[in-house]
Amino acid sequence: MATVVNGSFASPLANAHYPSTGALHSNGLFFQLYNGINAVSLLMSGLLMLVLYDQFKYIWNKGSIVGPSWKAPFVGPFLDSVNPKMDKYKAKWASGDLSCVSVFHKFVVIASTRDMARKVFNSPTFVKPCVVDIAVKLLRPQNWVFLDGKAHVDYRKGLNGLFTRQALETYLPGQEEVYDKYFANFVETSKNNDGKPIPWMPQFRELMCAVSCRTFVGHYMTDAAVKKIADDYFNITAAMELVNFPFILPFTKPWYGKKAADMVLDEFSKCSAKSKARMAAGGEVTCIMDGWIKSMQDSEKYRQKIAKGRTVDPSEKPPQLLRDFSDFEVAMTVFTFLFASQDATSSASTWLFQLMADRPEILAKVREENLAVRGGDRNQRFSMDILEKMTYTRAVVKEILRYRPPVIMVPYKAKKAFPVTDTYTAPKGSMVIPTTWPALHDPEAYPEPETFDPDRWITGDAEKAVKNWLVFGTGPHYCLGQTYAQLNLMGMIGKASMHLNWEHHVTPLSEVIKVFATIFPQVRSHLGILALFLVVANQYSIRTTALWSSQSDRERSPLLTAWYLK
Ligand code: HEM
Repeated sequence: MATVVNGSFASPLANAHYPSTGALHSNGLFFQLYNGINAVSLLMSGLLMLVLYDQFKYIWNKGSIVGPSWKAPFVGPFLDSVNPKMDKYKAKWASGDLSCVSVFHKFVVIASTRDMARKVFNSPTFVKPCVVDIAVKLLRPQNWVFLDGKAHVDYRKGLNGLFTRQALETYLPGQEEVYDKYFANFVETSKNNDGKPIPWMPQFRELMCAVSCRTFVGHYMTDAAVKKIADDYFNITAAMELVNFPFILPFTKPWYGKKAADMVLDEFSKCSAKSKARMAAGGEVTCIMDGWIKSMQDSEKYRQKIAKGRTVDPSEKPPQLLRDFSDFEVAMTVFTFLFASQDATSSASTWLFQLMADRPEILAKVREENLAVRGGDRNQRFSMDILEKMTYTRAVVKEILRYRPPVIMVPYKAKKAFPVTDTYTAPKGSMVIPTTWPALHDPEAYPEPETFDPDRWITGDAEKAVKNWLVFGTGPHYCLGQTYAQLNLMGMIGKASMHLNWEHHVTPLSEVIKVFATIFPQVRSHLGILALFLVVANQYSIRTTALWSSQSDRERSPLLTAWYLK
């Protein structure tokens, strides 16, 4: 019987458990608790595994280079990337030739020294430029700036002709027209404001946008469209944060940025159609878009002659045979020029005006030189000859760009494992960021690097430090617009010195750096301390506020412009 009760040859102990197994029936409370604990512990173990994997991956990727010994689970120093601080960047650069950080899933290697930075810039086999994900959505994935290797080199060759000395000279009258208009506006705005402080930084952004649009697309765009682009461009910059949602949610920064980008592309497409018609009718080239479209049309004419079997004199062959680009393709490319220039030139022009005001002895020399190269006539229009004679003004612009380089870092991405040094290989997929600041503040190349000293470019050895001059990058992606950008800044400050006077009300924050894509003077603290610009033109005395912005200003960006322009 006992055998029957036990029902098996199992041990008494096993049998003794039999009744309690009944208590664990799937409907039982204990069973449910037990299952619950299992689910929670499974989840916890899973999470723990992920945290460990995240840490392990970080430590593995970090290898021998400097960096935090562990990362905050998953997010890493995410908040630092949302509100970047110059001091933290400087500390990072000082921490080692190569250092690292990991934000979310992105492993980032920072190349700080001149030689490390140059190594990255000059390693196109291993790296390609990397923009934040949202930039691809704004500029469109098929944009030429995302090309790599030979495709990039070939495309770029077709654009080189737009930035030659001869081509740049063609754009000068248009640029000067914009300066005439905006300088008069500056005076008028200040006069209308009875000399009371008004924000100034947005005026520089608008000015730079207007000069760019005039240079890139001539008069094909209305003043109202230029103004709208200048106003809305802020949203494009604001959308460029390192970390954004992978998709565009309505009413977020990327959403506003995308709307602004669509509007710019639409405007540029319309300009392209107008330029094509005008160039086909034999119009003069007055802007970059004209120049490019004329080259396309000349190439087509040449191809047709060849196809028809005509004998063509070799001199008729265009330097670059271009295919025909659609209006949208033209718009995308011209948008990259605006994209590349707007923040950088806004940064440079803000520093330029501020530092000139704070160093009147330097401004006086700029004035003296500008009057001299104009043969004593301050209304003389600028030409390439005049600009090239401005040795001191050029030195001032170079020193501004060295002292406050607009682009402090250029993100690249490792296409494959990248042996940056003998002992360290950046993993495939990591972001590798060459920095420009340390090379441009290297005391061996630029003695007393924290001093703003234009003379170092004339009587000093600064020109010899070619390898340190990373303001415009180096290697296959070096800045396409570098000559144009410098001449433009020289022309602007030279002309301003001929027609305006301005004064800066210095605050303790004036030369503190605010990082917002590029770098700007931190002139307003979170407490709302204001730095003032006092602009005096002829008989007018004008006060304005040079303002760049706390985090909250950025958040309010769509409203800010209206407020600025009151
Ligand atoms: C002060 C103003 C400017 C600064 C500091 C600046 C700086 C830079 C830097 C650091 C790069 C990356 C270079 C590299 O990866 O090696 C770059 C690329 C570029 N810049 Fe500029 N830039 C300025 C103005 C302009 C202007 C006015 C234009 C256009 C007219 C322009 C067009 C470009 C383009 C198209 C690229 C990408 C080139 C490529 O990928 O092949 N930039 N710039």
